[in-house]
Amino acid sequence: MAQSSSDQRGTEWWRSAVIYQIYPRSFSDGMGQDGLGDLVGITERLPALVDLGVDAVWLSPFYTSPQKDAGYDVADYCDVDPIFGTLADFEAMQRKVHELGLKLIVDLVPNHTSDQHAWFGAALAAPEGSAERDRYMFRDGSGPHGDLPPNNWQSVFGGAAWTRVTRPDGTPGQWYLHLFDTSQPDLNWQNSWVREQFRDILRFWLDRGVDGFRVDVAHGLIKAEGLPDYTPPADAGSMGGTLGLEPEIEGHAEVDPPTPPYWAQEGVHEIYRDWHRVLEEYGGDRVLCAEAWVEPLAKLANWVRPDEMQQAFNFSYLETAWNGPALRSVIADSLTAFSSVGAPSSWVLSNHDVVRHASRLALTEDNPQGHGIGPKTLGKPVRALGLRRARAATALMLALPGSAYIYQGEELGLPEDVDLPDDARQDPTWFRTNGTRYGRDGCRVPIPWEAAKPDYGFSHVQRSWLPQPTDWGPYARDSQEGLDGSTLELYRSLLSARAANGLGLGEIEWLDGYPDDVVAFRNGAVTVIANTGEAVVPLPAGEVMLSSEPLGVGALPGDTTVWLRG
Ligand code: GLC
Repeated sequence: MAQSSSDQRGTEWWRSAVIYQIYPRSFSDGMGQDGLGDLVGITERLPALVDLGVDAVWLSPFYTSPQKDAGYDVADYCDVDPIFGTLADFEAMQRKVHELGLKLIVDLVPNHTSDQHAWFGAALAAPEGSAERDRYMFRDGSGPHGDLPPNNWQSVFGGAAWTRVTRPDGTPGQWYLHLFDTSQPDLNWQNSWVREQFRDILRFWLDRGVDGFRVDVAHGLIKAEGLPDYTPPADAGSMGGTLGLEPEIEGHAEVDPPTPPYWAQEGVHEIYRDWHRVLEEYGGDRVLCAEAWVEPLAKLANWVRPDEMQQAFNFSYLETAWNGPALRSVIADSLTAFSSVGAPSSWVLSNHDVVRHASRLALTEDNPQGHGIGPKTLGKPVRALGLRRARAATALMLALPGSAYIYQGEELGLPEDVDLPDDARQDPTWFRTNGTRYGRDGCRVPIPWEAAKPDYGFSHVQRSWLPQPTDWGPYARDSQEGLDGSTLELYRSLLSARAANGLGLGEIEWLDGYPDDVVAFRNGAVTVIANTGEAVVPLPAGEVMLSSEPLGVGALPGDTTVWLRG
């Protein structure tokens, strides 16, 4: 059966785009003051992304922020933090993005603000029950003296999801909800004033010309009435998903996983319908992309109904083990689920919140999303195996119809930094769990550009906010440029062949007759065969367009993907 990325087969750019995620603090330090990446650095390095062959960039937050959660704690949604530059730097960067023919997506963080946001300051200064307090989730405590949290919810980063405030007279007051760090109070999205503010924030950036928004925690804005207690299953990842090693075979979820009272509540959808209308005022195929850790895919598809968002990250795909049956199943389910609402599927393997796939795909122990890996992790990934699988996995992903996301550094084959010293760690997860979870710093280390420079050319001051491993020279961009077989050259070839053959807007036809470990399909004029097993598989006749590893004669080795013409 043929499966396409969308029933309606529209041609809007975001249906098939390859979108490159820039994590600004770790991309390039152009201002050269502090070893932190910034907007000037991004502008300088944009030509490298054109050269790679992507269509758009998504920037993680660069807004005013105390940086308690690396910028996902926003103190002013309409300004640039001085560590990243100024609004003028943003405008210069955006001009350059557009001049180069790329699209620009910025991050929107609506679930919570920073505790340094003026709205939260006003809420703390105002009396209980005031309009200012109602913009956040303040509640009385439980227990005889209100000195216990209002319910048992746990923060994604560990510890209670509630913090008690102190009244001006020094007595203990109410509690506020923070699904993430204490410094990230949740907004009350039942409050119409909050909704109005965010319409204005969308317009602020749309007026400046952005092409869309990646919406942070898009499954979290509305909480269930009465905020009932909830205990998640032991294997749940922090955001609601699971990064399991067990293959997830078709129909694995006989019953839908329970819906926590803080994720995936029905009420979020009217918010996105409202934002859809705001984007429509601006025309030009703007995009909203949901970061929603929602399973199963049929439920996630609700985020991309025709009058809501345009895309949702396919975390079910990201969470799937390197396993033939599991991959076939999740690809088929994705295409079915998203096309049932006329949306493209998205595909993603890495981002700033998960263990880089060049390491994750070789883990031998379960590792729930957000926990991270470090020096004491059991079953540490073997680098060569991880890279080999990552290259094969990317070659499979980039052949699929729909839109694909690439996280900075994966085109270099970067592994997770497993040996980051404890005293360098910055992720709130590490602190809130007293070091029992490493968190996400290992995938956020500044990326290497030039092998011979002390900080691999990341910063003019030869510093980087997280230390870079000393053995990253071979991963540096300039070590790989023009080098036959390098991961950078593989990504370039994949992206150019994907574009030349229109794979993003194509449809797939499954090919039978291969061993179970093999994922095989045709997308237009291209036959794609991914061998997730160890045994060599005979190759059918056909001209080899590219392969993730050298091929034997007429043979596809294990952990290798090939694209054939015809
Ligand atoms: C999202 C971001 C993550 C952040 C969290 C809280 O999951 O991707 O980095 O910590 O939201 O904003």
